[in-house]
Amino acid sequence: MSGIVIAVDGPSGVGKSTVCREVARRLGLSYLDTGATYRVAALSCMNEGVDFGDADAVVAVIETMNVEMMLDPDEPRVTLDGEDVSRILRSETVTGMVSEVAINLDARAVLGEFQRDIIAHEVTGGRSGGVGIIAEGRDITTVVAPDADVRVLLTADPEVRVARRALEIDASDILDVREAVLGRDAKDAKAVEFHEAADGVVTIDTTELSIDQVVSAIVDLAHRAVL
Ligand code: DC
Repeated sequence: MSGIVIAVDGPSGVGKSTVCREVARRLGLSYLDTGATYRVAALSCMNEGVDFGDADAVVAVIETMNVEMMLDPDEPRVTLDGEDVSRILRSETVTGMVSEVAINLDARAVLGEFQRDIIAHEVTGGRSGGVGIIAEGRDITTVVAPDADVRVLLTADPEVRVARRALEIDASDILDVREAVLGRDAKDAKAVEFHEAADGVVTIDTTELSIDQVVSAIVDLAHRAVL
C-alpha cells in the first residue's frame, strides 16, 4: 500500500502554502513547496553568474545544483550546498528573477523530474514514512503529478490575493505588492496554465472562505479518495 499524493495548484497570494502546510499537519503528510525549487534554481544561477537568457547554461546549473528539500510542514527548509537558504529564497532579488527560470521549458522539465522523485520517495517511505505528501505549485495537478489521488486548484479574486500577500509580508506599498503578485502571474502564465482547472481537478474558490474552511475541504477530499 503506498501513501497518498495531494496536488494543489494556484496563483500567487491564493494561500497555497498556509493551507497545504496545515493539511500536511492534520494528515501526517510531508509538504513540498515546488515554488522553492524554482527559487533555489534562480539563486544558483545568480550565484554562478549565469545569463538567464542562455537557456542551456541555466539548465546545466540546475542539473548539477546540490539542493536538499526539507519536507516538514512545521519547518520547510531548503539547503544549497549544505547551507540553509530558505530566507534568501523569499528575498526581493530572488523573487524578481524566479520567473526567468519558470518560463524556461527545459528548466521546468528538470525541476519537474526532481519534484517527481521527491513525491515518489515519500509515498513509499522518506520523511512521512510512506504516509504521503502534499505538493503545491502551478503545474502539479497537470504535469508533475497528474495521477495524484487528490487534485485541487485554488483560486481567489485578484484583489483578494494582493491583499492576502500584503498582509503576509507586512508590506507598506500596496502598489508594489500588486505588481509583484499580478505581474509575476502574468509572466508565469505564459509557460503554464494555473487559472483554469484541468479535467478531474477540483476548483476551490477561496475568495470568501477562511483558511480553516479550505483546509477542511481538502482534508475531506483526501478522506474520500482513500475510502
Ligand atoms: O509559489 P512561489 O511564488 O514560491 O513560486 C515561485 C515561482 O516559481 C513563481 O514565479 C511561479 C513558479 N512556479 C512554477 O512555475 N511552477 C511551479 N510548480 C511552482 C512555481
